[in-house]
Amino acid sequence: MIDTRVEIAQVEFKNPVIAASGTFGFGKEYGEYLPISKLGGICTKGLTLNKREGNKGIRIYETTGGILNSIGLQNPGIDGFIKEELSFMENEDTVILANVGGSTIEEYIKAVEKLNDTSIDMIELNISCPNVKEGGMAFGIKSEVAEGIVSKVRGVCKKPLIVKLSPNAEDIVHMAQCCERAGADGLSLVNTFSAMAIDIYSKKPVFNNILAGLSGPCIKPIALRMVYEVSKAVNIPVIGIGGIMDYKDAIEFIMAGAYAVQIGSGNFINPHICLDIIDGIERFMEEEGIKSIEEIRGVI
Ligand SMILES: Cc1cc2nc3c(=O)[nH]c(=O)nc-3n(C[C@H](O)[C@H](O)[C@H](O)COP(=O)(O)O)c2cc1C
Repeated sequence: MIDTRVEIAQVEFKNPVIAASGTFGFGKEYGEYLPISKLGGICTKGLTLNKREGNKGIRIYETTGGILNSIGLQNPGIDGFIKEELSFMENEDTVILANVGGSTIEEYIKAVEKLNDTSIDMIELNISCPNVKEGGMAFGIKSEVAEGIVSKVRGVCKKPLIVKLSPNAEDIVHMAQCCERAGADGLSLVNTFSAMAIDIYSKKPVFNNILAGLSGPCIKPIALRMVYEVSKAVNIPVIGIGGIMDYKDAIEFIMAGAYAVQIGSGNFINPHICLDIIDGIERFMEEEGIKSIEEIRGVI
């Protein structure tokens, strides 16, 4: 009998497969394609204190082995989420991670305070947003800046706190250690890589903001390396993200040290991908005589 359960910050997941933020809406968008309750967990689209319309112009653009996106955190705001989206999610038997973004520390704090008294299971703090007050530099680039925001949010957060790291951090291992010291209960990595594309006919960048975020299979080997290095350097659980397209990719991340994995861009290619990966992990465990995820976690 195999056991695919994993525990992160005292929250039990029935399996280690979570739908990644921004690629799975609020779950109900996929409800007609698959039984949501089979997933280990769902991360909401990035939520900000107030509703956001998102960026103008092209938002998604295909590139070799991946996609570039510049959505601009379009979301209904925390109140809109609680009113319109949460009831569907809480009726599904799966772990809910609320992904929270913001442009100032005050915004993060107010957003987390509003989520404290809801049924969400965990907060995933997205520190890749530009810090408007400090001139646009993302919170997730400099370790000291990240440590400051995580410790302030920790001070008010009543839910388990997962901090989502950017691969654009100056030093991702140091960043991870600073977030652990600031009180994170776990880390998820990676978010998208800063990247760009040019339309050679208009001689202009494809995206209005010039830069966009790169995700998909092309980032997997780098994300895997980062998960491996961070897992070795911290004592809190790590969730691996980046270009996971099948169960073999997921198992690589687990062997590199991840407690669970998130699937992002893959959902756009195959809406069943999360279920296929769960089935694949179960088959692999049966064939290899592995009884629990723990047996293979961090074996590298
Ligand atoms: C269209 C799109 C929107 C995203 N929105 C968010 C978001 O709101 N918050 C966040 O933390 N990450 C967001 N991400 C990043 C993903 O959650 C994930 O970290 C990244 O895409 C890498 O995983 P993947 O290669 O499996 O896609 C988004 C990614 C995509 C492709």
